[in-house]
Amino acid sequence: MSQPETHESSAQHLARRVREAFADPKLANVLYHDWEADSYDDKWSISYDQRCIDYARGRFAHVAGTTGWPYPRALELGCGTGFFLLNLKQAGVLDEGHVTDISPGMVAVARRNAEALGFAVEGRVADAESIPYDDDTFDLVVGHAVLHHIPDVELALREVLRVLRPGGRFVFAGEPTRRGDWVARRLSTLTWKATTRVTQLGPLRERWARPPAELAAASQAAALEAVVDLHTFDPDSLARTALRAGAVDVRTVTEELTASWFGWPMRTFEYAVNRERLGFRWAMVAYKGWLRLSALDEKVLARVVPDELFYNVCLTGTKPT
Ligand SMILES: C[S@@+](CC[C@H](N)C(=O)[O-])C[C@H]1O[C@@H](n2cnc3c(N)ncnc32)[C@H](O)[C@@H]1O
Repeated sequence: MSQPETHESSAQHLARRVREAFADPKLANVLYHDWEADSYDDKWSISYDQRCIDYARGRFAHVAGTTGWPYPRALELGCGTGFFLLNLKQAGVLDEGHVTDISPGMVAVARRNAEALGFAVEGRVADAESIPYDDDTFDLVVGHAVLHHIPDVELALREVLRVLRPGGRFVFAGEPTRRGDWVARRLSTLTWKATTRVTQLGPLRERWARPPAELAAASQAAALEAVVDLHTFDPDSLARTALRAGAVDVRTVTEELTASWFGWPMRTFEYAVNRERLGFRWAMVAYKGWLRLSALDEKVLARVVPDELFYNVCLTGTKPT
């Protein structure tokens, strides 16, 4: 990574790196996620209590079932603040956990979150296209919302298979589908525009608007977000990519249709307003609404709606024995 040049202030250095990042998706990922690391759990309502333990467990079990738990040794790619692996560990899915991310800021927060939960997890800064572990090291490799940031997904999956023991499993969840993402982004953009305009009106402004500096920073982050989000996936071609990388027993499932039509605008609204106004009751109403719609999606709509229209795709497979 580049160092400040002698004539540059640290603000000028950061501005230059942001300009460079628009042409370099990996640098963009480091900058964007380093920038987000400390506020990430708040922004995405991530917690390490029963709500998120159940969520992580549910995503894993939906695509990969519940046999083989606990996996003795597990690695997470693109761990962010540790949401997936730390909650899977609390759910009893795995024993020993290792977290990695290309963003040093995220690895630091993930380790801090693990310590707060009383776990020892090893954390390394690592690019998923070149995983810094020996062959045949892990029984399980997981990732949540990471594949769509990686330039060469097939290369990353080959690396996953290299570090897995023969028979070991990988599980990637929370990846956007092409069609689901198209709808979710439009709903989010509409919500953002409507909310930021309405909260500027007269008496609403003081109570509901986010301070202008925070809104400006959020808009800058959104511009960089367009650079870090590299892919959306068609479930069948994602499965074929995993097969080409050398995996067997490959399976994909999709989830969240009406839940994503509800969840994306809700999260965007929460991000666009002064959060102090929302409180715990709001969080519970939003969560329960999302749970009900997820159940409707899984139990009813998944039988009749084509799978590529759902928002999330999850992928699993194993290394040949
Ligand atoms: C959308 S965040 C998801 C974080 C976390 N897994 C979660 O679900 O909350 C994607 C994460 O992937 C990381 N990432 C992006 N590109 C990567 C790469 N090439 N190798 C490893 N991690 C990467 C980012 O730094 C970021 O922390």
